[in-house]
Amino acid sequence: MWPKDVGIVALELYFPSQYVDQTALEKFDGVSPGKYTVGLGQSKMGFCNDREDINSLCLTVTHRLLDRYKIPPNEIGHLEVGTETILDKSKSVKSVLMQLFEPFGVTDVEGVDSTNACYGGTAAVFNAISWVESSAWDGRYALVVAADNAVYAKGSARPTGGAGALAMLIGPNAPLVFDRGLRASYMRHAYDFYKPDLRSEYPVVDGKLSIQCYLSALDNCYQKYCEKFEKKMSEKVSLRSFDAMLFHSPYCKLVQKSFARLAFMDFLKLKRDEVLEKSPDLEKFHGLPPEKTYFDRDVEKAFMERSLKDFTEKTKPSLFIANLVGNMYTPSVYSGLVSLLISKGIQELVGMRVGVFSYGSGLASSMYSITVRGGDGEEGLKRLLNALGGVRGELEGRRCVEPEEYTRVLDVRERNCHTVPYQPEGSVEGMFPGSYYLVEVDEMHRRKYQRVPCEE
Ligand code: ACO
Repeated sequence: MWPKDVGIVALELYFPSQYVDQTALEKFDGVSPGKYTVGLGQSKMGFCNDREDINSLCLTVTHRLLDRYKIPPNEIGHLEVGTETILDKSKSVKSVLMQLFEPFGVTDVEGVDSTNACYGGTAAVFNAISWVESSAWDGRYALVVAADNAVYAKGSARPTGGAGALAMLIGPNAPLVFDRGLRASYMRHAYDFYKPDLRSEYPVVDGKLSIQCYLSALDNCYQKYCEKFEKKMSEKVSLRSFDAMLFHSPYCKLVQKSFARLAFMDFLKLKRDEVLEKSPDLEKFHGLPPEKTYFDRDVEKAFMERSLKDFTEKTKPSLFIANLVGNMYTPSVYSGLVSLLISKGIQELVGMRVGVFSYGSGLASSMYSITVRGGDGEEGLKRLLNALGGVRGELEGRRCVEPEEYTRVLDVRERNCHTVPYQPEGSVEGMFPGSYYLVEVDEMHRRKYQRVPCEE
């Protein structure tokens, strides 16, 4: 017998306390005004100075979740990190997080790291669900941590960076339940974005190819999800079947285009007479092979217009954090879930079906869905929403850094990526209470951290 209602019991989000404004960055980079803010749909971009790295991001978010929800470390039986920010290569970030468990005598914790670009968090979620639903499950929670420092070399991809970490407690009787048997994946070999230079934090990225890969993965996952749904529920699926649709967000404009893409996929499934009756103006697009339309401006424009109202209702609320922090890589799609939750009241949320599309270059992608149940009456959901109550305030409380300073900070990181011994020079002033920061890297590349005191 499977445990009932396996899903997300608790959520914690962390992002750095500083950001660069995208309008200022447009000016600094000498691109035309509006390119980053309108063309990419981004307002602000969070970033880390040399005090933060993947270990500190994960330590911060994990410690915050355990504290906020008062979860004793011995109640975690599986812990897995999804990340593409690699420091010690053979040594997992999960092993670093064991520092939060060892002092309590807790070492019986399964799981290591999952890596495939922005998809690692979802791979970790799937593994956590599998553990809870397996014969190895011992009644404890699984904890998934997704975190990345998303930085690009100078050039067109740089404004699509970001940084952040997210922790999710997975267990039964959850307020946010993973729909069983409704998962579709699309996995292929592609060199759209990868990190072959192990001395650098920056990826090699073929921007246009990465967009094409993302859109083709979306088409394929959606088709497969619909097939599985229709088979299981004997019910036709379209965007109407979802109350909200979340996407991995490299930049918000691509998400709006992706929503329009799903409207196009729904349209392609219509019978010709339905098209003639309901949307005769779009008839010329009916029957087009999807793979020939990734960069078709007419299709894009027509379906962005047609789906604007639904996009505004079902997806725009989930882009709140992505617009203000940027692409966090693995946490990106889950920050969409946080944005959605903080945009609505409990009564609006209960009963919602939320579609999730997760994409990681290289390429790995899945579509699945979550039903908002409430958990223990509505207590579980109330607790979750209360815990996220500080997110807006933290976003507003961040420090705005000029593009000159942002660029200098990235240069410092670039120069010292693997320098040892190393003493970080960045200020820890203004970091959020409870944040971990790097104190030193010794000659054997061993890293030491301290924590900003928590407020009383
Ligand atoms: N006002 C309004 N819009 C503008 C302006 C302006 N002044 N200038 C340009 N734009 C528009 C463009 O028309 C374009 O819109 P479109 O996408 O509808 O065509 C958009 O802004 C971006 O401009 P481009 O010239 O296409 O930008 P560029 O090629 O320089 O870079 C890219 C964009 C490829 C996305 C780059 O930022 C990149 O490589 N990013 C990283 C890769 C990425 O995020 N891939 C997505 C999936 S994989 C992942 O998550 C990492």
